[in-house]
Amino acid sequence: MRSSPSIRRLVRETVVGVDDLVYPLFVREGEGIKEPIASMTGCFHFSPDTIAAEAAEVASLGIPAVLLFGLPGKKDEIGSEAWAEDGVVQRAIREIKQAMPELLVITDVCLCEFTSHGHCGVIREGKVDNDPTCELLAKMALSHAQAGVDIVAPSDMMDGRVKSIREALEENDFKEVAIMSYAAKYASAFYGPFRDAAESAPAFGDRRAYQMDPANSDQAMAEIALDIQEGADIVMVKPALAYLDIIYRARQRFDCPIAAYNVSGEYMMVKSSAAAGLSDERATMMEVLTAIKRAGADILITYFAKDVARIFSE
Ligand code: PBG
Repeated sequence: MRSSPSIRRLVRETVVGVDDLVYPLFVREGEGIKEPIASMTGCFHFSPDTIAAEAAEVASLGIPAVLLFGLPGKKDEIGSEAWAEDGVVQRAIREIKQAMPELLVITDVCLCEFTSHGHCGVIREGKVDNDPTCELLAKMALSHAQAGVDIVAPSDMMDGRVKSIREALEENDFKEVAIMSYAAKYASAFYGPFRDAAESAPAFGDRRAYQMDPANSDQAMAEIALDIQEGADIVMVKPALAYLDIIYRARQRFDCPIAAYNVSGEYMMVKSSAAAGLSDERATMMEVLTAIKRAGADILITYFAKDVARIFSE
């Protein structure tokens, strides 16, 4: 069953396709910006006025969706730029939806890029305070909905935030906006390059009081079940490559679409290894993404999305 390319094609069980892909984009305050991100080879910072052109390229490659991250001009204790009507993300959503209405826009809903202390919620007595944070996240998600977003993706790991967001959307007549929840998000060292790119590293402590312990698997199932109950339409496992068992278990257990985030550190391992001449970038990329899909992911969020799509359009 392996003797020729044709027979291998015929019996292949898992095929990564352009329909599976979501491409993350970083938008920052300013004008005319398209600057390479030092910590993430091949990725760029855009400003709201340049992002539509990039989105057009993504759409022209056949990629169905982008995932937006914002870097605001100013940060404060509670991250109030996160729900500003004219915030960077809100403007970027409008620009993209106006230029490319058919391209799905997904937004990261989390405060860490907007707070002066870099934590994903409001701080009380040195700790992230869960419940008031949920209210702010709901405001943030609602402001994205008002700007025209298709899917909001809460990535903060507060308890109850999917419910708060779902209620805020329903009450304001945004019933069609979907929620892709980062349901099983681990406190991972693989986010290092991203925190540089998003300027979102915590100023003190770490995220282990809200993101999951990498040692846990049953807890991931409990977290996913809760988010589905609260109204999540798509659930995510993050990171992806080091958590294939979690994706597999979730696939066996839940019927909703499962997304997997092949995060910045996983991406840069492949890039750095190839840049050092140690491995073939394209082959490694395809092997990693195929493995994530084989484990059970329906949606692949990856900085490789454009590279993969280019292979298909060759
Ligand atoms: C939080 C967020 C993070 C990532 C996505 N959303 C960073 C974190 O939790 O510290 C990481 C993505 C990546 O590493 O590619 N807003």
